[in-house]
Amino acid sequence: MSTKQSPDLMDKIVSLCKRRGFIYPGSLIYGGFAGTYDFGHYGVALKRNIIDMWMQAMREHDSMAFLDASIFMARKVWEASGHVSGFSDPLIICNSCHTKHRADHLLEAVGVSADEKMTEENVNKIFDEHRRKIVCPTCGKKDFGRVKAKNLLATSTLGVFEDEDEEVYLRGETAQGIYVNFKNVLDTGFYSIPLGIAQVGKVFRNEISPRQFLFRLREFEQMEMQYFVHSKDALTAYEAWKRERMAYYSRLGIKTGKLRWKQHENLVFYAKDAWDIQYEFPFGWNELEGVHYRGDYDLTQHQKFSGTDLSVLDEKTRERYIPHIIETSVGVERTILMVLCDAYDEDEMNGEKRAVLRFHPRVAPVKAAVFPLLKNKSKLVEKAREVFWTLKKEFDMVVFDDNGNIGKRYRRQDEIGTPFCVTVDFETLENDTVTLRDRDSGKQERVKVSSLVEFLKAKF
Ligand code: GAP
Repeated sequence: MSTKQSPDLMDKIVSLCKRRGFIYPGSLIYGGFAGTYDFGHYGVALKRNIIDMWMQAMREHDSMAFLDASIFMARKVWEASGHVSGFSDPLIICNSCHTKHRADHLLEAVGVSADEKMTEENVNKIFDEHRRKIVCPTCGKKDFGRVKAKNLLATSTLGVFEDEDEEVYLRGETAQGIYVNFKNVLDTGFYSIPLGIAQVGKVFRNEISPRQFLFRLREFEQMEMQYFVHSKDALTAYEAWKRERMAYYSRLGIKTGKLRWKQHENLVFYAKDAWDIQYEFPFGWNELEGVHYRGDYDLTQHQKFSGTDLSVLDEKTRERYIPHIIETSVGVERTILMVLCDAYDEDEMNGEKRAVLRFHPRVAPVKAAVFPLLKNKSKLVEKAREVFWTLKKEFDMVVFDDNGNIGKRYRRQDEIGTPFCVTVDFETLENDTVTLRDRDSGKQERVKVSSLVEFLKAKF
């Protein structure tokens, strides 16, 4: 029995994540804090795997530098980038119950596509055309004001004395840290154009309607790569990056048919062309990753606002030019949500219902679990500890579990998505073999302890 299409799939995933120590709602003992989630032990391991796999894919390029820029940046960065004036959500207020809504979400509900990146004027125009059909989800009335662009940059203050505190922006995308460091990286002498700069880091957005678990958060991490290239090579590079980024998701074991391309109809202020890789989430097809052709917009703006020459010299032709930029940008948490939705399944094994996360072994937070058959037999426990440490040295995330009967331990590991369980039993003490149980099929086989590491390595 598969429940993949079940409408409450998201609820089941949210509940499993909390129950098994993957992800908790932020500030829960104070009633929660919208748009924030805290990662528990297995969540941290899952996140680390997702980030490592992305970094590995970027490292496979010969001309790729890594960066870790500050979250606090000069205010001017965000003025130059266009975020102060143009980075907003279309907000609308119900005149009757005064609740705030995203105009694009209300339009979506009546089957009209208006993407979040449209200008205030355009959303107002579309909203006016459909105003008569649009009902407030809170009070049911059809009485809305005008659409207002609500800036998404989150702010904080910095300073020595409160009355001198200066308002600063928390970064709204990691990309700007890359642009302002472009010259620093180039000046190290290791790199030339074409050059990619990759960065993983926290981002903050004042989302007016955080929703769908990890899908839309106020604090999240982005994995962004900016590829600097001569304009004449930009379109070829753009197509190559599009191919590469889509192909990348097979490494994460994402099911075929669950990913597709969607071109942006309304381009965000910085883009010349933009495509999204969409995933079919339980709530519909939605953006997973953006692959954008940003032209020379960003470097030109920073050159203008900072007064620093950001052009480069082509040694052969002696031409000075501002490189064009291809961007690939994906959220860590949104990738995790996709991986969870893709992996979650329910079936029956040995007459018992179970929930299972069928993670690809590379993605799985725990690689293997080791059990002594009985916890009160010291010889079994001792041997199981020995096997556990052998595997732990090799695979790091390996757990030892002697709690409850073997069936219960399997169920627990199935929910964590552990691909292999190793049981040390009485036969182990006689011939040094263990039972290796496969998460997906439930199939068990006997494997020599001495060949266990090689056997598992071949699966990852
Ligand atoms: N530098 C380009 C940029 O930031 P974006 O489409 O706003 O573009 C890129 O964001 C990616 O970041 C998205 O495809 C998504 O994976 C993730 N992302 C954006 N907003 C998010 C949010 N509020 N919560 C979680 N992830 C988000």
